[in-house]
Amino acid sequence: MALFDEAAAAVPIPRVPRPIVIADYGAGTGYNSVLPLCSAISVLRKRTQPEHSILVTHTDAPDNDFTALFRTLSHDPDSYLKRDDASFASAVGRSYYKQILPSNSVNLAWSAWALHWLARVPMPVSDHLLAAYTRDPAVRAAYARQAAFDWHEFVAFRGRELCPGGRMVVMTMGVDEDGQLGFGPLVAAISETLEELVARDVITADEYAGMSIPIVGRTAKDFESPFAPSGTFEKLSITGMDLFDGEDRFFKQYRSDGKADAFGAQWAAFVRAALSPTLAGQLTPNRPADAFSHALEAGVAARLAAAPAGVRIPLALVVIEKKQPRD
Ligand SMILES: C[S@@+](CC[C@H](N)C(=O)[O-])C[C@H]1O[C@@H](n2cnc3c(N)ncnc32)[C@H](O)[C@@H]1O
Repeated sequence: MALFDEAAAAVPIPRVPRPIVIADYGAGTGYNSVLPLCSAISVLRKRTQPEHSILVTHTDAPDNDFTALFRTLSHDPDSYLKRDDASFASAVGRSYYKQILPSNSVNLAWSAWALHWLARVPMPVSDHLLAAYTRDPAVRAAYARQAAFDWHEFVAFRGRELCPGGRMVVMTMGVDEDGQLGFGPLVAAISETLEELVARDVITADEYAGMSIPIVGRTAKDFESPFAPSGTFEKLSITGMDLFDGEDRFFKQYRSDGKADAFGAQWAAFVRAALSPTLAGQLTPNRPADAFSHALEAGVAARLAAAPAGVRIPLALVVIEKKQPRD
């Protein structure tokens, strides 16, 4: 968030009455966007008049729950709509792998926890839920190509949308020193639970075989690739990058209160919300997705509660800036 505040402090802002435009790419329900946006808006507000309009555009895929997003913005006490009278909310329901906002219109951009989802599944992963853990070099290569293509496209379209001098801060999944995605205990608990569900005839072996989660972690080199070798791409350059481990808040809580059941339940609820819909996409049409999701959640919760262990969460923060004409 500090990097996003720094970006808000540095970007050129338009003169009144033109609004300052902030884009939130891959906003989801908006639940995790309210704090960084509110903080950035308070930084911008100190740089301009109280009545200078700030327009926030939350973007996501067309089938995102935009009702939930607007409810968050209306009700969350930390929402910028509650804190800043001259801020306004809007939304775009289109994939960010295209240009979705007018050229040279965005002053400041944020994207969190979204870019690790690939635009499409490049090929089935027969031996694991995650391509990162496959032994098949063809699968690894196909995923690496798709990840590179997606990042290239995402950056290129933002290059059109950002105003000169505009900045974008992206937070997405990185990799650990061994090039691995992390999330080890969680991935193991999900895989073991799915194997158990096959054994209990809750799902079929074919349904399990079709399940994969199309996410990738990226290295510093991956992020830099579209900008090589000159360091500039579509008038953009990387001006900051931080590779770090996110905190496993659930494990921290467990270490202070010793409540293993709560630790398992919190990670399992995350699995149900974030991953279960993708996995359930492989169920045959007559199989109730709810029962599957419930069984998955229960299995993951029980496994993690039986052997609580910290979950490694390699993350990356990348700051990208668009050149101003005089640069
Ligand atoms: C895990 S949620 C993150 C939501 C929020 N940014 C946060 O920090 O919690 C990932 C979001 O990215 C969105 N997303 C994934 N691929 C997308 C795409 N191609 N275009 C727009 N949004 C996308 C998903 O629909 C989902 O709402």
